[in-house]
Amino acid sequence: KNVVILISGRGSNMQSIVNANIIGAKIVAVISNRPDAGGLAWAQERGIATAVLNHRDFDNREAFDAQLQQVIDAYQPDLVVLAGFMRILTANFCLHYQNRMLNIHPSLLPSFKGLHTHQAAIDAGCKLAGCTVHFVTPELDHGPIISQGAVPILPDDSADDLAARILTVEHQLYPQAVADFVTGRLSVQDGKVINAQPT
Ligand code: GRF
Repeated sequence: KNVVILISGRGSNMQSIVNANIIGAKIVAVISNRPDAGGLAWAQERGIATAVLNHRDFDNREAFDAQLQQVIDAYQPDLVVLAGFMRILTANFCLHYQNRMLNIHPSLLPSFKGLHTHQAAIDAGCKLAGCTVHFVTPELDHGPIISQGAVPILPDDSADDLAARILTVEHQLYPQAVADFVTGRLSVQDGKVINAQPT
């Protein structure tokens, strides 16, 4: 199955997926909205096709997303993976990739959608935090949940401490979700995740 990964930054989740060498998953492209995304060079060094589509070159979100969709579709993806892609996506774009686009979010959804999730969880006095892999729907950080991992919040944690602890779990859950999707074990029907057990 063809997999396109979208990034905006260092791309450590992208790296975890590439490094997992998932049987049946071909990473056909890594696409960034930021020319300076660190993950681009990493992908290029491994011979993965990369593309940059700078959102600043577009007048509005619709125009950017329409062009992004064209760039992605040139790679004929079976699955689109948002891996630290820091753009809010239009409904049209989300619906085009309905049931075949995943996101990872560094909180235990439905708590702490959006940005600054780690500090928000600390400020709320939570004892646990974590990450969520979900199918993407037009509503931000809201689609059907595939998997979650939890970590403790320790008394003197900074947001960075917590982010690092959660990131190690992200790097386990995201490759697993991609592997489950490409083998057909994971799908979504009528807004509900179907997670067939491996036989
Ligand atoms: C991760 O924490 C991810 O959950 C969030 O953005 C961060 C991206 O990190 N959506 P990386 O670029 O994958 O290293």
